[in-house]
Amino acid sequence: MLLSPAPFSLRPMQESDIEAVAAIDRLSFPTPTRVKLFYHELQQNQMAHYQVLQEAAKIVGFAGYWLIGDEIHISTIAVHPAQRGRQLGELLLLNMLFLAYTHPACLVTLEVRRTNVVAQALYEKYQFALVGERRGYYKDTGEDALLMTVTPLDGRYHQFLTTQQTHLFTRLQSEA
Ligand SMILES: CC(C)(COP(=O)(O)OP(=O)(O)OC[C@H]1O[C@@H](n2cnc3c(N)ncnc32)[C@H](O)[C@@H]1OP(=O)(O)O)[C@@H](O)C(=O)NCCC(=O)NCCS
Repeated sequence: MLLSPAPFSLRPMQESDIEAVAAIDRLSFPTPTRVKLFYHELQQNQMAHYQVLQEAAKIVGFAGYWLIGDEIHISTIAVHPAQRGRQLGELLLLNMLFLAYTHPACLVTLEVRRTNVVAQALYEKYQFALVGERRGYYKDTGEDALLMTVTPLDGRYHQFLTTQQTHLFTRLQSEA
């Protein structure tokens, strides 16, 4: 887990966080995640790894991925709408990318809605490439998913992440 500059901190999600996480989730996605699913992920899904981001004592964002073989599949990432644009989504993503090395994984994948240009810009900043599309993937709106990946998770990409971390922490410290 990345040691973030104060007052920010990252840690694994616990059941006691679910209420706060579900509140952010409801404000972030067209079809909110069922609270039951968060319990399932934490209690039963051995592949699931969820983190929360706090600013002082308050949860301001969360993210999760599944470790499937040597692949990390990012299942969710969200920042409270009032806190967006402060590099907190980037901090959550960077943390997951560093965690990928600890398993270790060699590939990171995710799906993103075609219209979600903000998230796509974040992923492109971290060198995710578009590798495919899933037509009508999102049942709620019928929207297509774009499939994006980062590979390989080699020493060079780790160096890139380290450089990004330096820039990110400088920005977070100057805004805190
Ligand atoms: C996607 C999300 C997590 C980004 O979090 P955030 O904290 O607002 O983003 P950050 O401030 O960390 O920005 C990081 C990068 O994202 C991109 N970005 C952020 N806001 C953007 C905007 N309004 N327009 C374009 N790009 C933007 C930029 O590349 C930015 O890097 P930069 O500041 O160097 O330009 C957030 O918008 C969110 O929770 N959205 C709703 C849930 C969601 O769509 N999740 C993704 C599912 S695939």
